[in-house]
Amino acid sequence: MKVAITGKGGVGKTTLAAGLIKYFALKDRQVFAIDADPDANLALTLSFPNPSKITPLIEMKKLIEERTGAKPGTQAPFFKLNPKVNDIPDKYFAEHDGIKLAVMGTVRGGGMGCTCPENAFLKALLSHLLVERDEVVVLDMEAGIEHLGRGTAKAVDKLVVVVEPGKKSIETAFRIRDLAAQLIIKNILIVGNKTRGEKDKNYLIASMPDFNFLGFISFDEKIIEADIDGFSLWAQGEKFRQEIETIVKNLTSGENL
Ligand SMILES: Nc1ncnc2c1ncn2[C@@H]1O[C@H](COP(=O)(O)OP(=O)(O)OP(=O)(O)O)[C@@H](O)[C@H]1O
Ligand SMILES: [Mg+2]
Repeated sequence: MKVAITGKGGVGKTTLAAGLIKYFALKDRQVFAIDADPDANLALTLSFPNPSKITPLIEMKKLIEERTGAKPGTQAPFFKLNPKVNDIPDKYFAEHDGIKLAVMGTVRGGGMGCTCPENAFLKALLSHLLVERDEVVVLDMEAGIEHLGRGTAKAVDKLVVVVEPGKKSIETAFRIRDLAAQLIIKNILIVGNKTRGEKDKNYLIASMPDFNFLGFISFDEKIIEADIDGFSLWAQGEKFRQEIETIVKNLTSGENL
């Protein structure tokens, strides 16, 4: 199961990612949590200790140089496009409560399109995680999927787009679908977040008639309180847990967990 989560800013991508990651980890699945948002806060949401101390992969300059043969940030005429990365998850990912997490960091030069050692390294790692590993991978991304790149995008089983009641995030979902079609991602699924009842759910379904909905997460004071007080949303948000469970069921239906 390789899930990538995207959608407009602030819709609840990280909240959903954290919920899915927690669910799989508690089912004793090996999970890789990848924070691919430059404004990373997945570790904080998952209650990792000292989340700000986690070094983004892109800042591991020595490692990147060692693996690619070129110094990141320099104009290198030659570097390895397929550096060795298969030991990276075990050696360099942060671990907490059975979840292995990595922060990718800010990719310079307009996303993964730029040809530079650090991007070659991150691309190789993503591709390793998505193509070669059996573990569950959950990618928390920024709005848009441009930075995925063609090769890695194909390996994403499910692209989950989060929307909230309102036209803006719906428009973003339509734009993402067009991009996904270009990258040959077929499985686009929608999660409606912050819904205040049936009216909001029906509005979303009616506004996105040819999209598949995975489920909904209700607008929930507990989610805000968890963010303010830093307590575990998973431990205290019973409704949230149930809604995540339904989403996972729909995500994995027809597939053996
Ligand atoms: N269902 C909900 N009910 C109430 N508040 C919510 C809900 N989902 C998310 N929030 C709150 O909305 C804010 C944004 O959520 P989150 O960080 O998950 O969004 P995001 O899409 O990852 O944002 P960004 O684009 O900044 O990465 C957070 O403060 C979160 O606590
Ligand atoms: Mg986020």
